[in-house]
Amino acid sequence: MAKANPAVQTVEHPLIARSLTILRDASTDTTTFRRHLKIIAQLMTPAATVSLATKNTRVQTPLEETEGSVLTGPVIVAPILRAGIGMVDGLLEMIPDATVAHIGLCRDESTLEPKVYYQNYPSHLSQSHIILVDPMLATGGSSIAAATLLKDRGASSITFLNLVSCPAGIDAFHAQHPDIAIVTAAVDQGLDDRAYIVPGLGDAGDRYFGT
Ligand code: PRP
Ligand code: URA
Repeated sequence: MAKANPAVQTVEHPLIARSLTILRDASTDTTTFRRHLKIIAQLMTPAATVSLATKNTRVQTPLEETEGSVLTGPVIVAPILRAGIGMVDGLLEMIPDATVAHIGLCRDESTLEPKVYYQNYPSHLSQSHIILVDPMLATGGSSIAAATLLKDRGASSITFLNLVSCPAGIDAFHAQHPDIAIVTAAVDQGLDDRAYIVPGLGDAGDRYFGT
């Protein structure tokens, strides 16, 4: 169990728990894995966006004018490639006007260090709320590096949306980025000797892309 940490929210919902169980199941095929990763991203979006700033507005309904609400700034969805891609469509279903940043990172499986191989950012990073997206938080190397890349380009408001985490990854991430809340569906037991999350769900990118 992770230590009580106000900056880590484990989202509990029967449909999230059901989809996560399907994703964990080694016999789940690629098509079903894709469907449930999208569903779970959609179901977790409200928790990942609950603190977005809003302001009041007036709106004219067909009957009369009334109070409304708009977001005060743009939202950017920032998946860590490859596996983060699997959660983007679910988020965009809920925030259709969000723009998308791409952060290409892969973990060197011998050193466990993240390697950056691609980056593409919208120009308005510094005025936006950014949802950093990666289904797996293992050692934390990839998500720490991605958050640093975003901050180096001016990002100051970031939430990390994750699916399966572990105590070591959470601690490592918050040691570097204490200002970034983690929203996750599960804090698993730990890491095996290859730094895979146990029980986890295996290699998320391979399972999503069928590689
Ligand atoms: C996986 C996963 C995370 C990272 C987590 O990506 O999607 O990005 O590992 O591990 P960490 O917390 O120890 O850095 P991977 O490097 O396997 O690349 P892929 O998504 O392209 O398969
Ligand atoms: N990357 C994954 O995809 N799964 C893990 O368990 C660890 C790193």
